[in-house]
Amino acid sequence: MGASVVYLVTKNAGKVREVEAVLNKYGFSVSPIEARKEELQSDLLEHVAKYAAEQLIGKIPEPFIVEDSGLFINILNGFPGPYSAYVYKTIGTWGILKLMEGAVDRGAKFVCAVALCLNGRVHVFRGEVEGEISIRARGDAGFGFDPIFVPFGYSKTFAEMSIEEKCMISHRAKALQLMVNYLIQVYGVKNV
Ligand code: IMP
Repeated sequence: MGASVVYLVTKNAGKVREVEAVLNKYGFSVSPIEARKEELQSDLLEHVAKYAAEQLIGKIPEPFIVEDSGLFINILNGFPGPYSAYVYKTIGTWGILKLMEGAVDRGAKFVCAVALCLNGRVHVFRGEVEGEISIRARGDAGFGFDPIFVPFGYSKTFAEMSIEEKCMISHRAKALQLMVNYLIQVYGVKNV
């Protein structure tokens, strides 16, 4: 691979920090880039990310990443899932806690699909982290639903963790790790 910069298509500064936290370790720098994406309506984040990436081929520099993620709550049959960004903007963490009032099963997972476009081809990587929706919002680090998500095996919410701690276990870090493994296998990457 020639370039060690990876372009990340997003406006979300929280995502940029987390992608940097993982990719910097492997010698990549991350350059956020804003681009209009066509949003596919699908329950599968992999399809949403892949479709968006394919629309951008030839329009922005490569290699680039389109990332799509969401929170899937068991008792709500996977809601808000692919609609997480909209639900966060409308009812937010408060609304989710309200919907979960009295719920005994608080199981949920975060899922992330990373679509990497390299040499005009798109490869998709998926990461998941299981956990629970907390009773109340805690912490102010991170972004989105971080204050109400407690990963299994931990008592802190994502918003009570440092970025390094979150990126040891997060859905995003897992998907990115698979992407890095792929790059190492196929192209070789410096600093590993
Ligand atoms: P999108 O990937 O831009 O469609 O947005 C996904 C939405 O899911 C975000 O706006 C957040 O509300 C939520 N989300 C995804 N990943 C995370 C995370 O790591 N922490 C907290 N919220 C997240």
